[in-house]
Amino acid sequence: MDLRQFWAKFNRNKDAEETEADLLGALHNLPRHLAIIMDGNGRWARKRGLPRSLGHRAGVEALRTAVKTCSNLGLEVLTVYAFSTENWKRPRDEVNILMDLLIEYLQRETEELHRNNVRIRAIGGLSELPQAAQAELARAGKLTASNTGLVLNLALNYGGRVEIINATREIARLVKKGKCQPEDINEEMFAGFLYTAGLPDPDFLIRTSGEMRVSNYLLWQLAYSEIYVTDTLWPDFNKIQLLKALLVYQQRDRRYGGIK
Ligand code: IPE
Ligand code: IPE
Ligand code: MG
Repeated sequence: MDLRQFWAKFNRNKDAEETEADLLGALHNLPRHLAIIMDGNGRWARKRGLPRSLGHRAGVEALRTAVKTCSNLGLEVLTVYAFSTENWKRPRDEVNILMDLLIEYLQRETEELHRNNVRIRAIGGLSELPQAAQAELARAGKLTASNTGLVLNLALNYGGRVEIINATREIARLVKKGKCQPEDINEEMFAGFLYTAGLPDPDFLIRTSGEMRVSNYLLWQLAYSEIYVTDTLWPDFNKIQLLKALLVYQQRDRRYGGIK
């Protein structure tokens, strides 16, 4: 079923389960690596007259669904933007809540993710996270290190510019020591110094809640990613919406600057 046929059917039949089965049947050519900017928790809460913290809590549930779906679909990597280098600017209480939710998520989910062969890892300035968060991340990473299913990559205290600067510094040190020449620096080599070394670049970027910007996310890695922005707020982004987004991805014509 192509996208047009799917929408014709979808608009006639709103029965969720049948739609999910249709979507799954229509999916092929999935991204290897999906990156998500999970945005809109605060707006979701405000719409309901709730504190922002409850929006973040609802956001964790949406994350659980997304991870499970990506794992079941057999994607290789899911990278989620959970906390940016700029998010420290938020009120201290909100930062603390986000860190506590991270710890709680890891404590609650790691065992089940492990049973599902998911490998948990993180990218970003991890050493600046609270000790308890670092400890949970280390535990989850160690437990799931040899898993061969989905790689769940949590972007925490992540900033694309800092990542590029850190890589540049490391390479500059090597050049200074005479261990490599400026001419040896190429894209492949440079990518090897980023947090994402060894992972394929994201094929597909999803941003929820309508903002048309990358907010310092994966600046190097997104060079040729397909981008999808939905007005849906992150806590409302469910399995059907993810499958629909993936269906849109598979209709994209990825030319990489060439011609067909
Ligand atoms: C995304 O939701 C979660 C994080 C950035 C940690 P927001 O908290 O940014 O929600 P909005 O954008 O204010 O609605
Ligand atoms: C991006 O969302 C960061 C995360 C989702 C963790 P923000 O809400 O922080 O981004 P801006 O402020 O809208 O650019
Ligand atoms: Mg936001």
